[in-house]
Amino acid sequence: MAHVSDLIATDIGAYLEQHQHKSLLRFLTCGSVDDGKSTLIGRLLYDSKMIFEDQLAALEADSKKVGTQGGDIDFALLVDGLAAEREQGITIDVAYRFFSTDKRKFIVADTPGHEQYTRNMVTGASTADAAVILIDARKGVLTQTRRHSYLVSLLGIRHVVLAINKMDLVDWDKEVFAAILAEYQAFAEQIGIKGFTAIPMSALKGDNITERSDKASWYAGPPLMEWLESVPVEDDLREKPFRMPVQWVNRPNLDFRGFSGFVASGLIAPGDKVRALPSGRESTVARIVTKDGDLPRAVAGQSITLTLTDEIDISRGDVITAAGEPVPVADQFEATIVWFDEEAMLPGRGYLLKLGARTVGVQVTEPKYKVNVNTLEHLAATRLELNEIGICNLSIDAPIAFEAYEDSKDLGGFILIDRLSNRTVGAGMLHFALRRSQNVHWQALDIDKATRASLKGQTPRVVWFTGLSGSGKSTIANLVEKRLHADGRHTYILDGDNVRHGLNKDLGFTEEGRVENIRRVAEVAKLMADAGLIVLVSFISPFRAERRAARELMAPGEFVEVFVDTPIAEAERRDVKGLYKKARAGQLKNFTGVDSPYEAPEHPDIRVDTLAVSPEQAAEEIVAWLERERP
Ligand code: ADX
Repeated sequence: MAHVSDLIATDIGAYLEQHQHKSLLRFLTCGSVDDGKSTLIGRLLYDSKMIFEDQLAALEADSKKVGTQGGDIDFALLVDGLAAEREQGITIDVAYRFFSTDKRKFIVADTPGHEQYTRNMVTGASTADAAVILIDARKGVLTQTRRHSYLVSLLGIRHVVLAINKMDLVDWDKEVFAAILAEYQAFAEQIGIKGFTAIPMSALKGDNITERSDKASWYAGPPLMEWLESVPVEDDLREKPFRMPVQWVNRPNLDFRGFSGFVASGLIAPGDKVRALPSGRESTVARIVTKDGDLPRAVAGQSITLTLTDEIDISRGDVITAAGEPVPVADQFEATIVWFDEEAMLPGRGYLLKLGARTVGVQVTEPKYKVNVNTLEHLAATRLELNEIGICNLSIDAPIAFEAYEDSKDLGGFILIDRLSNRTVGAGMLHFALRRSQNVHWQALDIDKATRASLKGQTPRVVWFTGLSGSGKSTIANLVEKRLHADGRHTYILDGDNVRHGLNKDLGFTEEGRVENIRRVAEVAKLMADAGLIVLVSFISPFRAERRAARELMAPGEFVEVFVDTPIAEAERRDVKGLYKKARAGQLKNFTGVDSPYEAPEHPDIRVDTLAVSPEQAAEEIVAWLERERP
């Protein structure tokens, strides 16, 4: 079973040839801290002889020094490469390791067992065909086991091993094994894991890892390595209809236009009819180009460049499909979201969604519930915190071609990216398109924004005042409006306190309440600008992300950010509405600047220093600026 094939010495050519044609299984290991995961992986590597001699010598030396196995080889040391991890005794990042046997090649993703690291687990699992879920026989099914199993099921991993480890420490007791099996069985059914194989083992002693152990004569199933060597690898992707997300439009000169990408499913040959989505345009494949020459056909898993017989418009991020079996196109979905970030996911906030080769703006329009992964209970949710999993409706800025995640990981799995920091903040799986998105269409209108604005003889603007409560936003906005009005301009003021009496009276001052408040008022300001008005918006609008989203909603140059910069001490000294006093006394929660953040603009178009200028002077300056800086 161990893999230092004699062929290496006798016929290296034949060995490499054989090696190249072996199938590849990607699998994931997960379990709690101390279940023996690193030991198991170390054992698999050791038994398959994929450890080099010098590594082995170092391991033996290390085991003597820091090992926990009293002079025996501590396999965990092989895997827990990082010093920090050794000290903490936990594995904190995904590590990919490669090994092979005579039958198969393997890539194992070793993911952390520590609760905080759902993100790494999802990262490691996203390409896995199989999962090994470790259990310490002395402890049985734990919270972590449930959490990991739930993720494995969500991520659509169909082949699962329940590795009941440390059986030597329970004297290979059949009853212990049976009890864990029964408990897990019930849970697996609940979360939709259809089948799994339970194996009693001792990774440390090497029982039921590569060789069947005689210690568990009552166990008739395979040892772990045999299971790994025989579990079917996903090759049914070839049986599915052709889909290729376009990564890149390859246009080296005017005579060549190719569409490059990775074939997600199906097969394709010159002469096949294809459809490009979301446009829906059809054409026929002319050539399949690769760097090693043209191919007569290509299948799932290959990276290719297609040329077509017609000049149709296809961009990066579009999907080329079999003409007769296209995928749906939509811009609103229900999805599962797994949130990774310290900063909570807030509905209404704009993020980027990356699916296949496409990146689009996205908002969560409606969080439906979050799942307590230990009890599977559905809980009401207005946001998702670090490591939480929720079911939500999403709305994206432009229609995309997609498939449900259960039908295609490539066209149904996505990640979420923070617009300001570019961090990956979550991952998700599309369920289905919302029907409403298919039934609502843009209505064409004859009178447009330019026509309306020209009748008013002005250029529409959205002048956005941001600053602390009591900073003087509304006072200054009011003076600006009076000046503009006197000049014959058509204006309107949207003021936080006023709008919160009507349109936004359902919203509070939590972060999610403020995000939604600003989202709505930005949409209203956009409508008013579309009507040809000069709109003055006076809201605290404490978050950069929402102010930026508001700017992006408007036409270029239309949005003018005015930072009414009054230090908190001054706003508090004035305390026009007595709210600071209440907040300090603890009678008003989530008050901006006291116990709710204010993110000052970094590059406002206009900054008003209210300690240096009067409201009248500030208004003069703003009107003069608007006259001068026309879009
Ligand atoms: S925002 O943060 O969502 O933009 P908005 O401008 O609509 O706030 O409303 C702010 C006004 O609501 C303040 O000027 C103040 O009069 C009032 N208010 C009541 N409670 C709070 C609070 N917790 N934080 C800030 N303002 C509050």
